[in-house]
Amino acid sequence: MPDNLPTTTLEEAPVGVNAMIPNSARIMDYLLGGSANFASDRAVADNAFVNWPGDPGGVEGVKVDLHAARDVLGRIVGYLAGECGIRQFLDLASGVPTMGNTHEAARAVAAGCRVVYADNEPSVAAHGQYLLDSDPDTVFLDGDFRNPADILRRASATLDFSQPVGLILFGVLHFVEDDADPGPEQIVAQLLDAVPSGSYLALSHFAKDDTDTALNEMLTEMDKQTGDSVVRRTRSEVERFFDGMDIVPPGVVETELWRPAQGAAGPKPLPMWCGLARKR
Ligand SMILES: C[S@@+](CC[C@H](N)C(=O)[O-])C[C@H]1O[C@@H](n2cnc3c(N)ncnc32)[C@H](O)[C@@H]1O
Repeated sequence: MPDNLPTTTLEEAPVGVNAMIPNSARIMDYLLGGSANFASDRAVADNAFVNWPGDPGGVEGVKVDLHAARDVLGRIVGYLAGECGIRQFLDLASGVPTMGNTHEAARAVAAGCRVVYADNEPSVAAHGQYLLDSDPDTVFLDGDFRNPADILRRASATLDFSQPVGLILFGVLHFVEDDADPGPEQIVAQLLDAVPSGSYLALSHFAKDDTDTALNEMLTEMDKQTGDSVVRRTRSEVERFFDGMDIVPPGVVETELWRPAQGAAGPKPLPMWCGLARKR
């Protein structure tokens, strides 16, 4: 392992990464069982989720729920590579490629799929580049999805934008306020403009659920600790991102309800929407 790679000890944080400040990408890596996280990340997760509902509950329950939320990425990418014949993917704000990644799900169906990942958290990008280093058809960019032009330009070294692309925006548009410049709809529009008809957009997005006060308090506390500002949206607000596209059934639904595998477990407490649509 190279010296400058994120590790699980504070002393060995790579240049540009303050291991004392918890970060949502590294917290997610921890909860998914990865090694690109620090003591500060683990402490925040362990404390914030003590009262997470379910059986198991607490931080173990969050781990189960996050794995389930990650599974839907695999189902959507598998559907794209299988039923839709998509052979190239752009996965934005992908997080650390810890488990259940887009290139693995795509290639389980069709060998040779090409994948570009991008994330703007330095430790995520460093870890991603290290993990994917030996794979010529999988590239990890250090990039900000709020600047689609930059990412598209760099991704074009790997992806052929004259052919359909699977655009993956999982767990990320909720970081963009409606009145940001560019706003979430503009970001989506810029990405869709760059890909041909027959391309697909896959989204997952934190759901607005004002009924579950305890859950909301936990998620708000997590945002406070990591400094993230998360915009939770209703189903119809998320559906708007697919305006002008053909939504694939079952539409925008809770993640566990998107074409579940037979015998899959029922609804999970993690409040997330997901959906997939085809560009006309
Ligand atoms: C909740 S994780 C989602 C990871 C993965 N997409 C998934 O759904 O499993 C959010 C990711 O978004 C990344 N992120 C947040 N803002 C970003 C930005 N402006 N540009 C690129 N990545 C960003 C974070 O670093 C983190 O890895």
